[in-house]
Amino acid sequence: EPLSKAPSQSVGPEYRSADEKPLATVSTELSDKNVTVLPQTPQLIALLTMIRDKNTKRADFVFYSNRIIRLLVEEGLNHLPVVEQTVTTPVGRDYNGVKFQGKICGVSIMRAGESMEQGLRDCCRSVRIGKILIQRDEETSKPRLFYDKLPGDIANRWVLLLDPMLATGGSALMAVDVLKSRGVPEDHILFLNLIASPEGATTFAKKYPSLRIITAFVDEGLDEKNYIVPGLGDFGDRYFL
Ligand code: PRP
Ligand code: URA
Repeated sequence: EPLSKAPSQSVGPEYRSADEKPLATVSTELSDKNVTVLPQTPQLIALLTMIRDKNTKRADFVFYSNRIIRLLVEEGLNHLPVVEQTVTTPVGRDYNGVKFQGKICGVSIMRAGESMEQGLRDCCRSVRIGKILIQRDEETSKPRLFYDKLPGDIANRWVLLLDPMLATGGSALMAVDVLKSRGVPEDHILFLNLIASPEGATTFAKKYPSLRIITAFVDEGLDEKNYIVPGLGDFGDRYFL
């Protein structure tokens, strides 16, 4: 099946004219309302360029992936509800602001999802983090569930589900089924993801229309081994080994 052509866009600071800016491949846009793609800024495109490069060494891969993960966590937190909060400043004036409402936790899909735990901790001090070990069979690409350990009160928390790669969507769908079986409402799950295939993101978004997906990039598609293309290869191997 032919891949859909990925869009190109001129990338650079706003004050530069289009012909002064280089063209880069940017994320495919999806019509599903529950999919949020990070703004395709020069920063993000440069970070993605680093981690997609097969010649990037592990230390740089980790450093630049962590920067994208931080952007995903910051955007993810914008999808949590807030309530009014008025404070008094040291000069005696009130400021009408907001504060976050409710409890959260992280859940990483092991192994690659564990790379996103520190980024979440950096934004949410002492956040609880559950784990689900799902591995894709290398031959069939079908996911297998090996293990899970989740906070006992997870049904009363907003869950930030962490996995950098969404390929066929099989692993993420299986993880959501585990969360739902523990009583987590679908609309209390935010899935944070670096790179998604269009078919994986669409399948997932349609199956769980009230669950939100926040991704840095929707890529062109999948190859015959169900790797994301152009993608970045095996995220877990490049981050951890
Ligand atoms: C990768 C990735 C996702 C999954 C995506 O993990 O981190 O969990 O594959 O593929 P899917 O959408 O087709 O299910 P993998 O099973 O390779 O294990 P790893 O985390 O140990 O690398
Ligand atoms: N898992 C990865 O790490 N990369 C892919 O492209 C697909 C699944």
